[in-house]
Amino acid sequence: MEIKVISGDITEIQADAIIVNLFEGVEQPGGATGAVDEALDGAIAYLIKKGEIKGKFREISIIHTLGKLKTDKVAIAGLGKREDFTVDKIRDVSAEVCRKLRQLNCKRIATIVHGAGIGGIEPEASAQAIVEGSLLGLYNFRRHITKKPEEGDIEEMLIVERDEIKLRSLEKGCYRGKVIAEATNLARDMTNEAANYMTPENMAQVAQKLATEYGLEVTVLEREEMENMGMRALLGVALGSRQPPKLIVLSYRGDETSKNSLGFLGKGITFDSGGISLKSAEGLEEMKGDMAGGAVVMAALAAIAQLKPKINAMAVVPATENLPGGNAFKPGDILKAMSGKTIEVVSTDAEGRLILADALCYAKKQGLTPLVDVATLTGACRVALGDVCAGVFGNNQELIDKIIKVSSKAGECLWQMPMFEEYKEQIKSEVADIKNVGSKYGGAITGALFLAEFVEDTPWVHIDIAGTARSDKEKGYTVKGATGFGVRTLVNLALTLAKNKED
Ligand code: BES
Ligand code: ZN
Ligand code: ZN
Repeated sequence: MEIKVISGDITEIQADAIIVNLFEGVEQPGGATGAVDEALDGAIAYLIKKGEIKGKFREISIIHTLGKLKTDKVAIAGLGKREDFTVDKIRDVSAEVCRKLRQLNCKRIATIVHGAGIGGIEPEASAQAIVEGSLLGLYNFRRHITKKPEEGDIEEMLIVERDEIKLRSLEKGCYRGKVIAEATNLARDMTNEAANYMTPENMAQVAQKLATEYGLEVTVLEREEMENMGMRALLGVALGSRQPPKLIVLSYRGDETSKNSLGFLGKGITFDSGGISLKSAEGLEEMKGDMAGGAVVMAALAAIAQLKPKINAMAVVPATENLPGGNAFKPGDILKAMSGKTIEVVSTDAEGRLILADALCYAKKQGLTPLVDVATLTGACRVALGDVCAGVFGNNQELIDKIIKVSSKAGECLWQMPMFEEYKEQIKSEVADIKNVGSKYGGAITGALFLAEFVEDTPWVHIDIAGTARSDKEKGYTVKGATGFGVRTLVNLALTLAKNKED
């Protein structure tokens, strides 16, 4: 879908549908909605009076203009109560209205800028949210469906603004929204992809492509180089698979004056069978998405490369399958990680922390700071927090606070989890420096504490996206399947850190 910002009057637009809005409780619409109402001889006000249009959040009403306007249809998007209005609601409403219009076979649509000026929402932020919501809400994954869809795509969306002074900032918001949404959809594509089409090698190919397209630097370490670097935790996990493991590194340089670089790490298990500690069959197909963290950090770098903040950033993705082959690592095995620490493998299904241990060590060796890892690490985190928010852990409260703040602005919800020392007892081993599994309880915490052992003093945050990486329902700008959760937080973090540096 092509998106353009234009100056003009929404009532004058020729399109398949125009989109206006309504807050709950408003009886006589004003502004652009009022102007459209007038052109329709009061049809909107009439339907409000009749109780058919309430302006409730996510309510979408369609009115046919029957020649009274140059547009065929008017969609009225309910914004809910004015006092509860947020930028994230703009994303949700934009997604819902776009899906509805796609269903009605609209090809060319136009919208006003929702909510700018309400509750301090800047026009730029509103335009960004409209674009993000629309592109995220219209996303689907049909790569392997050979039958043509019943509903075609919306081809063009115009964002229409009367006030010419605002155009520049609307365009800025629109561009940022497009870059961020497309990156999120890239992460979704990679995560939704079947494991036989998204092997570690395929992930490395995506990285190469992103590098060429956006001018990033790419390095892919092969098994032999990993062996030379002593990454025997990562290589241990890879033993059971025929697919060669890869350590994928993408880097962006936006600040040549600085040696510092942000480090984003993502778990890249392209299929997690559990290994010899085999998972049960039910829902196992979901484990093709165990590389969501890796996809997220790669996609975030693609967005950062386009938005060009004055900062350096690097994505590190350890990628491998976790399968129970004849050569597979086994419970009881001991692996020596790159840091020199030895790990007793209690469960081969706690593999994410093993590959991340070596990736963290590699990131530290590259001098990256601060470090942020994103991983579908533990079922326990999903049990604890559900699918609405991801768990965030870390060794630096200032950094945790900053990430929570930028994530909420981006419309992603993070909830801090504790890292109490007492839980460390659980991952003490009698035969090695540490073991990879604790007791039955507090599994998200012991997972984070395990990673912390390999981070040591570098400021670090761990985001456990096991609950949020996929959704089984369609709601607002979330669709079924992979969510791309994390991309918007990481991009926002890079933009904010760069901006703070300048100020
Ligand atoms: N990839 C899984 C975690 C997961 C579970 C992600 C459900 C998304 C949805 C991870 O590798 C795993 O299997 N973790 C184990 C750890 C346990 C053995 C300590 C788990 O959560 O059961
Ligand atoms: Zn596992
Ligand atoms: Zn896993």
